[in-house]
Amino acid sequence: MSVQAEEEQAVTANARSAGIEAGAAGVPDAAIGRALGDLDPARLRDEYVNQGSFLYLSEFLPADATQRLIDAANALMPEVNRNFIPGHKAGGSVSRHTIDRLQPYIAELYRSPKLIAWLEKITGDKLQLSPEDDPHAYALYYYTRAGDHIGWHYDTSYYDGRRYTVLLGVIDDSSCILDYELHTRDENKPDEPGAVQYPPGALVLFDGDKLRHRVTASREGEVRVSLTFEYVTNPNMRPWRRFISNMKDAIAYFGFRQVFRKALQSAIGGARKTGERA
Ligand SMILES: [Fe+2]
Repeated sequence: MSVQAEEEQAVTANARSAGIEAGAAGVPDAAIGRALGDLDPARLRDEYVNQGSFLYLSEFLPADATQRLIDAANALMPEVNRNFIPGHKAGGSVSRHTIDRLQPYIAELYRSPKLIAWLEKITGDKLQLSPEDDPHAYALYYYTRAGDHIGWHYDTSYYDGRRYTVLLGVIDDSSCILDYELHTRDENKPDEPGAVQYPPGALVLFDGDKLRHRVTASREGEVRVSLTFEYVTNPNMRPWRRFISNMKDAIAYFGFRQVFRKALQSAIGGARKTGERA
């Protein structure tokens, strides 16, 4: 068996142990297989490292997979949770919990063994799925009103390990720009600014604690939807960090009901598994 086949088998085994049916990732996984066909992982790994754990591909997903995401994003419009933090953020979000219920194709794409194996080659890390109670594991972000944006930030990891962000362009009828600064946490390299307006089907990958970034404000009549996937190297999170993370998600993204109901269900489920009384 080739090294690549062994790696893919190991990732599939990981997915199964995380409760994913073998056939569930079939169609999205095949789409990822087509996406990866012409890409040179060694060259992209070099590009990723040279850019301080950042990679942008203007064309990634095949057109049919992108169309599935566009249809899903449109179907989920009534489920969008709007948030506004003065001076920092305005926009809408749909969490993984809603996606699981209504658009499981996205969840299957997130769990694609081929995608995870490829991300591991690029990042050089062994990746794991985010825990079931993390609403950011896969989520859609909607910019549909004038002034929707997010200010400069890092995708800070509240986990014990690293947190990687994948952004996939879904809909972009907007003037919004993803602005970023490379190497801000590397004392040996000067900061390097950059900007992309990533179209449907494009991919952005970065280490959340290394890329300082923002999305500029949308204008009247514009629509922009992007899909985010989050992978971690260690899914353990200390309780006080869990509390901070939940508060941030409730206020800035998905609402208290969604975040804390799921967190409570997860805590009760965990207690039952270990034989404790909830
Ligand atoms: Fe971010």
